[in-house]
Amino acid sequence: MRIRLDKYLADMGYGTRSQVKQQIARGNISVNGNPAKRPEMKIDTETDQVSYCGANAAYEQYEYYMLNKPAGVVSATEDRRASTVLDLLCERKRKDLFPVGRLDKDTEGLLLITNDGDLAHRLLSPGKHVDKVYYAEVDGRVTAEDAALFLRGVDIGDEKKTLPARLEILKTAERSVVRLTICEGRFHQVKRMFHAVGKEVVFLKRLQMGSLQLDDNLKPGEYRKLTREEVERLC
Ligand code: URA
Repeated sequence: MRIRLDKYLADMGYGTRSQVKQQIARGNISVNGNPAKRPEMKIDTETDQVSYCGANAAYEQYEYYMLNKPAGVVSATEDRRASTVLDLLCERKRKDLFPVGRLDKDTEGLLLITNDGDLAHRLLSPGKHVDKVYYAEVDGRVTAEDAALFLRGVDIGDEKKTLPARLEILKTAERSVVRLTICEGRFHQVKRMFHAVGKEVVFLKRLQMGSLQLDDNLKPGEYRKLTREEVERLC
């Protein structure tokens, strides 16, 4: 890809376009070993070597992060009142990152954050039926009958019933523990499915989205870059 030098640097988080222009004017930027003079200079992101104050400034067209979303932050790029999932990503370079889909404010777990719009579209498109796996703690005794209902589809007040969902009961008690796999992404879907069978979700965590699994080593609020294999499998 060929882009202007000032856009290249701004994309990689070296400041606004006007700030990077100042850096160029101060001689802090070099391209292939030579001081750069023109912000509009075209850079081949594959082959040209850009450096900032002598340090390599490699270009990344896309960034992919897996966040273990903690409760209490919103899945948005900005919010007037609450902190957002993007506020948690301190090392990101690109400014055009966004969360792929939403988790409720009180839901924890796997959230993919990227600037790859095509991938996001493929994962979220209703026609693609990408599996999402949730761990849930539910107030009330979850039964095999609930599992059979979920498999048939339940009426959650929308025009159509939910598509078949797989409910695994890990523990039946006053507070039951389950794993639920759904292939849609309707608003508050998991909570509404349990509500439809007379139960309330009291804790919800997403474990998996498509081929991407939440890394057990990430504590709530922690994140890491996706590995190359994870990106390739998702794409
Ligand atoms: N279903 C819900 O009810 N909430 C979420 O955050 C995700 C799925």
